[in-house]
Amino acid sequence: MYNPLVSYEENLERGPAPEWNRGGFFPAIRYSGTPQFSLFDHPLYLPLGIPAGPLLSAAFVNVALHAGFCMPVYKTVRSRAWRSHPWPNVLRLEKVESTAAGQNPADSTQIQICNPAGADDQRASVQVLPLQQTFLGDPLKSKSLSITNAFGVPSLTPDQWTTDFGSIHDDGFSKGYLPVLSFQGSRLPDGRWIDFLDDTARSAQLAAQCLRKKGGRILEMNVSCPNEAGAPIYSDLKALTETLRCAAEGLSGFPELKLIIKLGVVPDAQIPQSVDVISRYAQGISSINTVSATITTPDGKPALGSGAAHGGVCGYAIRDQALDVVRKLNDARKTLGLSKREFALVGVGGCTTVDDFQKFIDAGADVVHAATGAMWNLQFAGEVAKALKVGFSDGDN
Ligand SMILES: Cc1cc2nc3c(=O)[nH]c(=O)nc-3n(C[C@H](O)[C@H](O)[C@H](O)COP(=O)(O)O)c2cc1C
Repeated sequence: MYNPLVSYEENLERGPAPEWNRGGFFPAIRYSGTPQFSLFDHPLYLPLGIPAGPLLSAAFVNVALHAGFCMPVYKTVRSRAWRSHPWPNVLRLEKVESTAAGQNPADSTQIQICNPAGADDQRASVQVLPLQQTFLGDPLKSKSLSITNAFGVPSLTPDQWTTDFGSIHDDGFSKGYLPVLSFQGSRLPDGRWIDFLDDTARSAQLAAQCLRKKGGRILEMNVSCPNEAGAPIYSDLKALTETLRCAAEGLSGFPELKLIIKLGVVPDAQIPQSVDVISRYAQGISSINTVSATITTPDGKPALGSGAAHGGVCGYAIRDQALDVVRKLNDARKTLGLSKREFALVGVGGCTTVDDFQKFIDAGADVVHAATGAMWNLQFAGEVAKALKVGFSDGDN
């Protein structure tokens, strides 16, 4: 439903585009019976959602809810207006030129990047091309679809996004569904760390006020943006701890809300400590974010509108890495004696098929989120519901 051939602002203004969903229509799913799944204590018809990013506004969230995604995340918001990087923002992965560790992956579209901080010498290099609508009609091709994106986490003003979030249908907050609001603090190019921390607390509070008005229950904090100045926050335990502490301060007046932390590829050695520190301030982890890679056109030029040499890769190419991280996060959760009810795990990264969904559940995810896999295949929720024998009737909008 996101149209990659036009700018972010045009997508926001025009709203979700049915011609950019498989078959050219938006599915409408009505679940029947009592929800059989849950996250924390909240019932869910289907443990499937769309992570922060592709759902730009309430209009996108409403389409995702109708399509049967029970845990849609409203895109990451900030405490101030923030411009998107110029178009193009979304391109299709064409070819992997090199992998970070220098190995030859068995499957050439599976990128292996071991360094989560995205150090230049650890980045894979990939060639990209524009997405074509026709490409999405071929289930075989879209099953292995990988993309890169660079938006820079644009945001409306808090007044604007609070008003917009308010227009998510009230039904979306009824039993069986869990819409989430994602936020993050803003790092200004020459800004001080202390200002970022203050802004994190402020953003958390603004997001909580907005969510409470709608009776929502879950916030997500993004500490893993690969396209921002500096290393992602989660890669430095001290920075992560300080950021979590400030978010918790901002949320001190909202005891009914749960906070999930969005991470990228955490290095193996750091996983136990990361889970430990996060569990002191928050109630769950969503992982992984996109994986940073060098992005070029086939003739070697920077391909993304940001003008930067790198962008975040998502979709099929990062699936195995995402599964590996989820498995290890789940091991750490068990070692720390945290139950699924007290500390949730959302599996994200390259889930495009029912088989992938099951792999994430088997790896320990309580809920699975699909961004690339859902962006042009909103029928995916129906496919998972059918496989899990969840009762529903369907039609189209
Ligand atoms: C168009 C787009 C925009 C995104 N924007 C955000 C964002 O604002 N905040 C965030 O935490 N993750 C963002 N992401 C990352 C996704 O939430 C997800 O972690 C990543 O795409 C991996 O999932 P996938 O392989 O299913 O696409 C974005 C992804 C896409 C495709």
